Amino acid sequence: MSKPKVFVTRLIPEKGLDLVREFCEADIWPQELPPGRAELIARVAQVEGLISLLTEKVDAGLMDAAPHLKVVSNMAVGVDNIEVDAATARGIPVGNTPGVLTDATADMAFALMMSAARRVVEGDKYVRSGKWKTWEPKLLLGADFAGATLGIIGFGRIGQAVARRAQGFGLRVIFHDPTSQPAFGAVSVDLDGLLRTSDFVSLHVPLTPDTRHMVDAGALSKMKPNAILVNTSRGPVVDPLALYDALKAGKIFAAALDVTEPEPLPVDSPLLELDNCLIVPHLGSASQQTRDKMAMMSAQNLIAGLKGEELPNCVNPEVYKF
Ligand code: GLV
Repeated sequence: MSKPKVFVTRLIPEKGLDLVREFCEADIWPQELPPGRAELIARVAQVEGLISLLTEKVDAGLMDAAPHLKVVSNMAVGVDNIEVDAATARGIPVGNTPGVLTDATADMAFALMMSAARRVVEGDKYVRSGKWKTWEPKLLLGADFAGATLGIIGFGRIGQAVARRAQGFGLRVIFHDPTSQPAFGAVSVDLDGLLRTSDFVSLHVPLTPDTRHMVDAGALSKMKPNAILVNTSRGPVVDPLALYDALKAGKIFAAALDVTEPEPLPVDSPLLELDNCLIVPHLGSASQQTRDKMAMMSAQNLIAGLKGEELPNCVNPEVYKF
C-alpha cells in the first residue's frame, strides 16, 4: 500500500522526521528560509498532511489549494498562523504542541527578566568594548527580584510555570486572566491594577484579535517608571512604536523581547537603537530536548490525522462532531 503524501515546511528535528518518514511519503523543505507562498501552494497540491511552522500562513486559500488535505499539524503551541475556523469548516483537524514547551518558555521568560533586571547584555557589551577599567559603585545598576511584584498577563500553562519559578525568587506574583484560577501563590487582579503595580510584567496570552496591541501607549503609560516588560508570547501583543516611545522617554525601565512585530525584526528597527531593549530571535522553546519533543508531537498529530484517528493534541476538536 502506498504511503500518504505529506509536506513538511522545514527541517524539523530528526526524531520527528524519522517518524514522519516511517509512515509517509514526505516532501521536506530543505532550505533555511521557509517556502514562499507560491512554493507552498504548489507543494500542498497533492498532499494529505502538512506539518507547518509559525512562519507559514495556513489560510483558507492554502487549504483550497490542497484538496486532499486531511490534517494540519503545527509544530508550535500557538496557532495564530492558521485559520482554524477555515480548517474546521473543511473538516480538517489542526494539531499543536502544548505542554512540552511550557518549562522551556517559562525559563526563557525568566532568563529575559533576569537579564534585563541585572543588565547582563549591557554588561557583556561593556566588557567587549574595552570600557571596563575598575569596579564601579554605580555601574549598570539594575533591580532586585526579592520583594518586587511580578504581574503575569495570561495565566495558562506557561504563565503558571513563570509564577512557580517566581516563588523561589521571593517575588510577589499577581496575574490577570479572567479564565484562570489562582495558583502558585499568585493573586488575581484586573489589568489596570496589574499594570499600575507591577515591577515586572510578563506576557503569556495567545495572539487573538482581542490581544493584538493589548500593550499599547495607554497600557504602557500606566506602568511604573522602573517597570520591565517581558514578552515571550507573540510580537503583535505589543505595539512596537508605542514601546519604542516609552523606552526612549524612560517611561518604563526596560523591555526584554523574545518575539517582535514583525518577525524577523528588520535590522533598521528603532528598537535596536535602544540599550534598554533586549531582543532575542524567538527562542522560547529552543532547547534541544523541547524541540525534539515538539517534532515528535507534531509527527504524532500528523500520523493520527492521516489514519483518520483523533489527534493527540487538537485545537479544533469540534471537527469530529461533523
Ligand atoms: C512558539 O512560539 C510556539 O507557539 O510554540
